Amino acid sequence: MAVFSDEELLRVLEAAIMAPSADNRHRLFFRVAEQAIQILYGEGELPPAGGYKRVLALLSLGAVLENLSIAASRYGVSVQVTLLPERARADLLANLRLVQQAIPVDPLWELIPRRHTCREVRFRGPRMNEQELQALDSAVCADSGVRLVWLDEPGRRRQAISLMRRAESERFRNRLLHEELFSAIRFDVGWQSSCSEGLPPGSLGVEAPLRPFFALLRHWSVARSANALGMHHLLGIRSCALPCRLAPHLGLLAVAATDDQSVLDAGRAFQRLWLVVTGHGRVLQPLPAAALYACRATSVLDGIPVALQKDLADGWRDLVGELAPLMIFRAGFAPHSPVWSGRRPVAEYLRAR
Ligand SMILES: Cc1cc2nc3c(=O)[nH]c(=O)nc-3n(C[C@H](O)[C@H](O)[C@H](O)COP(=O)(O)O)c2cc1C
Repeated sequence: MAVFSDEELLRVLEAAIMAPSADNRHRLFFRVAEQAIQILYGEGELPPAGGYKRVLALLSLGAVLENLSIAASRYGVSVQVTLLPERARADLLANLRLVQQAIPVDPLWELIPRRHTCREVRFRGPRMNEQELQALDSAVCADSGVRLVWLDEPGRRRQAISLMRRAESERFRNRLLHEELFSAIRFDVGWQSSCSEGLPPGSLGVEAPLRPFFALLRHWSVARSANALGMHHLLGIRSCALPCRLAPHLGLLAVAATDDQSVLDAGRAFQRLWLVVTGHGRVLQPLPAAALYACRATSVLDGIPVALQKDLADGWRDLVGELAPLMIFRAGFAPHSPVWSGRRPVAEYLRAR
């Protein structure tokens, strides 16, 4: 007998795809049986191990799985996940076993539709109190091997922001990264509308007078000329260093090893943390570039300059020792953006058995 009615199943999968992904594009689909769900990759197989693109894909898959498990708890269903269960089937990301049992409803389910990325320049205080910090620690769940590290002490924050600024500037300076960044932005929908996939420009927090110039920067020839005058440095400051300096909190999720399971766990932990932050009435922006470009094999696989990868890895070692940084974020209070990313209808993520 099926554990979910048709309507319950749609609600659970809808919650799953409300999870964040770096470029607001879930490259996956669900194949549903009575007591199981398979999650399949939409693009053949995951990017190669060791590179940052695989880390991005697994972080986002972790967030999808966390949302799905939280939503399933509403119907007394627990979800047991096996990641990459069949060596010979690279497209099969995960097998989920659905078990009907007496489990408590996870109260985070109500926050799933309220969580959004906020890119306002200024996040305000007050800072979190002890109880709120503890709630975040429990959300990340020390047992999973994921560590939540705060970078709020001024010296540590300065060091972290300097790494972050370098990585964010590189996204505008490096042709490959520039293409990746701007191809995700949906300039076709204008500055006032949302879209069901990709990043709506109106969600990016770009000030109205700067919008025409920002839109021009999507052309590599314009960006390259502007970079000759140091534009990438300015953009690194505006998009990262300044907002991070002004935010009441700068945090990092790190793991002991970057195997697939640990990265997936970090994605799950990040999603729980973000939902708890949302429940506190705060907003959050992920800014993981400085962590991701420090991945060991990323220079060869993803075109990150060797010197940058090495400097970032050395910088993080100073800050967090042998832990591998995966996700950096800032958090605080700010008004919600009038435009945020939408999702494709859930039916488009379903495949026949
Ligand atoms: C792994 C990951 C990396 C992300 N990286 C960034 C980033 O570098 N900068 C940023 O502003 N948002 C980043 N985001 C936020 C996504 O762009 C955002 O979640 C997505 O567009 C969906 O929007 P929503 O969070 O409002 O639902 C990241 C999200 C994830 C899960």
